[in-house]
Amino acid sequence: MSKTYKIAVLPGDGTGPEVIGEGCKVLDAAAQKFGFKFQKVSYDLGGTRYLATGETLPDSVLAELRTFDAIYLGAIGHVDVKPGILEKGVLLRLRFELDQYINLRPVKLYPGVGSPLRDKGPDEIDYCVIRENSGGLYTGIGGLSRKGTKDEVAVQEMVYSYAQVERCIRYAFEYARKHGKKARGVGSANTLALVGKSNVLTYMYELWNRVFAEVGAEFPDVKREYYHVDATCLYMVASPEMFDVIVTENMFGDIITDLAAITQGGLGVAAGGNINPGGVSMFEPIGGTAPMWTGKNAINPVAAIGAGAMMLNALGEEAAGNAIEAAIMATTPKMKSQMANQMGFTTTQVGDLVAAAL
Ligand code: IPM
Ligand code: MN
Repeated sequence: MSKTYKIAVLPGDGTGPEVIGEGCKVLDAAAQKFGFKFQKVSYDLGGTRYLATGETLPDSVLAELRTFDAIYLGAIGHVDVKPGILEKGVLLRLRFELDQYINLRPVKLYPGVGSPLRDKGPDEIDYCVIRENSGGLYTGIGGLSRKGTKDEVAVQEMVYSYAQVERCIRYAFEYARKHGKKARGVGSANTLALVGKSNVLTYMYELWNRVFAEVGAEFPDVKREYYHVDATCLYMVASPEMFDVIVTENMFGDIITDLAAITQGGLGVAAGGNINPGGVSMFEPIGGTAPMWTGKNAINPVAAIGAGAMMLNALGEEAAGNAIEAAIMATTPKMKSQMANQMGFTTTQVGDLVAAAL
């Protein structure tokens, strides 16, 4: 009997439904080819539902989402909704409630895709960022006091427990062992770099560095490095080839993965996973809702399709996930650009090309 995966599809707002539609097209083609099935259920979470009902993520929906094998998310955001409401109410709440403590962001320049890094190609831009996704500044601890006076103070605390740091670093070592450059046959070592700011955030990096060394001792086959986050930004532009797997805390990871995304061709290409290795994970193109291109069949679905491939890998369907990635790599050289409306194809045509390449 073939396996059936229960997937919650959250197309969301703006161009989310268009790119998720192409992603589902490719996922269905992969299921057929590799002999498994999907049972997909759609949920209308997002700005449109919020404006109509005032709901962001109802508890009943959250309870249902806990029963799926994975979540496939388009994009959430709406021009008429105040910034923060949907981010906190849907995206961040899902991450916290489902304890998706890893944000996995592959940074790979596909063939034929233009990078703003003039002298760097697919061989140089080929690494991965593992962002801690449950703590740090995102914990929401802090407050304002003496509000409305000149003595007003705002505090937002960077908070990490040993356990949070340990589980993230352990995941990163395991990932580097399995998917590092040596494991993929493109380098002489599997390397994990901790990115932080140990010269200023001395308490925080006493903890992170200690855990990094402690857990690292269990992984003698993974080479360890440390870089400050500011220097990392510089290296990501000047010499991205020095990176293999990076692990970093939540806010630093948020910032450096946007920089990484533009080096791999931008938001049309970049995909990510919010992962709970023992629970329900959520995969998304990181591009957002692109309101300007909504309904025009002009947005790039490559990132959403790539997120679908990551989802299959996480479900254990690695042959299918890798085949989708290979199909993307067969398609990108045919595209004129990865920018919306400049691809030389429509959104649906790009989906068709990838599905055909499968
Ligand atoms: C991301 C986004 C989110 C984050 C926002 C939308 C809350 O920027 O997934 O990188 O900061 O994590
Ligand atoms: Mn971000």
